[in-house]
Amino acid sequence: MAKSYKIAVIGGDGTGPEVTVEAVKVLKAAGEKFGFSLDMTEFDFGGERYKRTGELLPDSAIEELRGFDAILLGAIGHPDVAPGILEKGILLRARFELDQYINLRPVKLYPGVYTPIKDKGPDEIDYVVVRENTGDLYTGTGGFTMKGTKNEVAVQSAVYNRFQVDRALKYAFEYAKKYGKKARGKGPENTLALCGKTNVLTYVYDLWERAFHEMGQSQYPDIRRDYYHVDATCMWMVKNPEWFDVVVTGNMFGDIITDLGAMTQGGMGIAAGGNINPEGVSMFEPIGGSAPKYTGMGVINPLAAIAAGQMMIKELGEEKAADAIEKGIMHVTANKLKSLAAKRMGYSTSEVGDMVAEKTVE
Ligand code: IPM
Ligand code: MN
Repeated sequence: MAKSYKIAVIGGDGTGPEVTVEAVKVLKAAGEKFGFSLDMTEFDFGGERYKRTGELLPDSAIEELRGFDAILLGAIGHPDVAPGILEKGILLRARFELDQYINLRPVKLYPGVYTPIKDKGPDEIDYVVVRENTGDLYTGTGGFTMKGTKNEVAVQSAVYNRFQVDRALKYAFEYAKKYGKKARGKGPENTLALCGKTNVLTYVYDLWERAFHEMGQSQYPDIRRDYYHVDATCMWMVKNPEWFDVVVTGNMFGDIITDLGAMTQGGMGIAAGGNINPEGVSMFEPIGGSAPKYTGMGVINPLAAIAAGQMMIKELGEEKAADAIEKGIMHVTANKLKSLAAKRMGYSTSEVGDMVAEKTVE
């Protein structure tokens, strides 16, 4: 019997639902060709529901989500809801509760896509960031004292334990072994680079650095290990992106450098990410926002959502289908779209989805 995957679809806010429709369209087409089916259940979590009911992501929803094979998320963010509420209450809560301890962010320039980096193309901009997704400044460890007085103190701590660091490193080394440049026939070796700040954050990144070399030396001697400070990482991502293969880093630096990476690969119209629990339920999302001003106009670019779907199906083990979808995306960027920007693609949202789907099953 053909495999069937149970997918929770959270379209979310703004243009989230309409780009998610296109991702589902492409995934279903891929399923017909590659022999799997998708059993989709929609959830309406997001700004509208919050405004109506005051509910973000209730405990019962977390429990329900645990029963799915994966989650596809559109976008979270509503103009009438103060910044932070939906992000913390839905996105970060799902990441933490479902222990999605890896944030996987491919930085891959597809053919035909504009990059602001002069003289670099798809051969040079092709790496992935493995961002730890549960620790660091994101744990909410800290607080205020004397709030509201002139002596007010605010503290927010970067928190990591060895277990969190080791499991992220393990994922990153395994990823480099399986999908590094050597494994993909794109270079002489598989490389994992640690991005840190060992010259200043002498506790947290000391822990990361020791754990990195211990694991590399003892378990992955064939994987080359590089180290870059986070500020230098930003320089090299612009000047010599071809140096990177797989990059591993903590949550906060990972958040920052992946936005830089996203811009070098064409921006929010194309960049996708996965919140991965390798032993549990993972959640995939386009990393752009909800673009409320374009809602319902059919002008938003669905490629990032389609790319999120592509990552999802790859994580579920359907590598051939994932490769076909990626080829479909590349066909569209190379030969069809005038621009990745909303309103300027030369096609409607659903036409872009159709073109990717057609190429995927060709
Ligand atoms: C991201 C986003 C989130 C983060 C926000 C929306 C909380 O920027 O996924 O990179 O900081 O992780
Ligand atoms: Mn971010």
